Amino acid sequence: MNLFKKTVKMLLPKPLLESLVEAEAKIARTWAAQAHRHLLGVQWSMPPQPEHFDHHIDLYDHWLRSRNPMWLERGIFGSLVLRGGRVLELACGDGFNARNFYSLRSEHVLACDFNPQAIQTARAKNSAPNVEFVLADIRTDMPGGTYENIVWDAAIEHFTPTEIHKIMADMKSRLAEQGILSGHTIVERSDGTKSLTHHEYEFRSKEDLLRFIEPHFQNTVVFETKYPDRHNLYFWASNGTLPFDPNWPQAVAVHKQS
Ligand SMILES: C[S@@+](CC[C@H](N)C(=O)[O-])C[C@H]1O[C@@H](n2cnc3c(N)ncnc32)[C@H](O)[C@@H]1O
Repeated sequence: MNLFKKTVKMLLPKPLLESLVEAEAKIARTWAAQAHRHLLGVQWSMPPQPEHFDHHIDLYDHWLRSRNPMWLERGIFGSLVLRGGRVLELACGDGFNARNFYSLRSEHVLACDFNPQAIQTARAKNSAPNVEFVLADIRTDMPGGTYENIVWDAAIEHFTPTEIHKIMADMKSRLAEQGILSGHTIVERSDGTKSLTHHEYEFRSKEDLLRFIEPHFQNTVVFETKYPDRHNLYFWASNGTLPFDPNWPQAVAVHKQS
């Protein structure tokens, strides 16, 4: 602790000091929220519309105003299947999840996107010692190597069914024997309008998504969460054990006979 902090602590009683730093934190929160609302306005109200979202806007403003934690779900559900080894993240966008969900419990994260702007943002805002952001079009140029985890968050809907089939096969050939694919997508709106102009194919149901994944794996789970403005689909797939299987090593279960 530096001399200034020591002196302040000696001179001021805790209640006074606490109310001063509470005021400082409140000003900082208000300022950070406002700045990120401005960022949202510039990025999304002025053309061209981006294809990825800067999750600092969720973190500092949108989450707290909306009370909607949906944006965190994909990182949390993806973290449940981390195996501690090498991770390949496809279509990483701003890189928030690579850094803040996948890197701490993994040996290395290679995160790719075909948009130079996304990679630039990722490197500037979400770098970490074991995270590498690279420019790659996963339709033609998916990074090589073998990975314990492959993550495909909020991006499958950006591809046509034909492209999805090819990417699935390319991805499977890069997955280690017991490796796990995880990811997130959405169900199409009931009025048929797309939630983002960049979307090529929005899924009709859990079963519609399952048909793309299931042919490649012995075990596949697709599950959903519903919010007022969005119907989410999550998936885990592997030839090994998945969360909440009876043999999942991270849990112990008691099955009571009735
Ligand atoms: C909605 S963003 C999702 C970003 C991030 N995964 C997340 O969960 O926030 C979709 C991303 O897919 C990327 N993308 C679309 N087509 C791609 C392609 N052919 N190769 C690599 N990335 C692609 C876009 O640039 C964009 O960053």
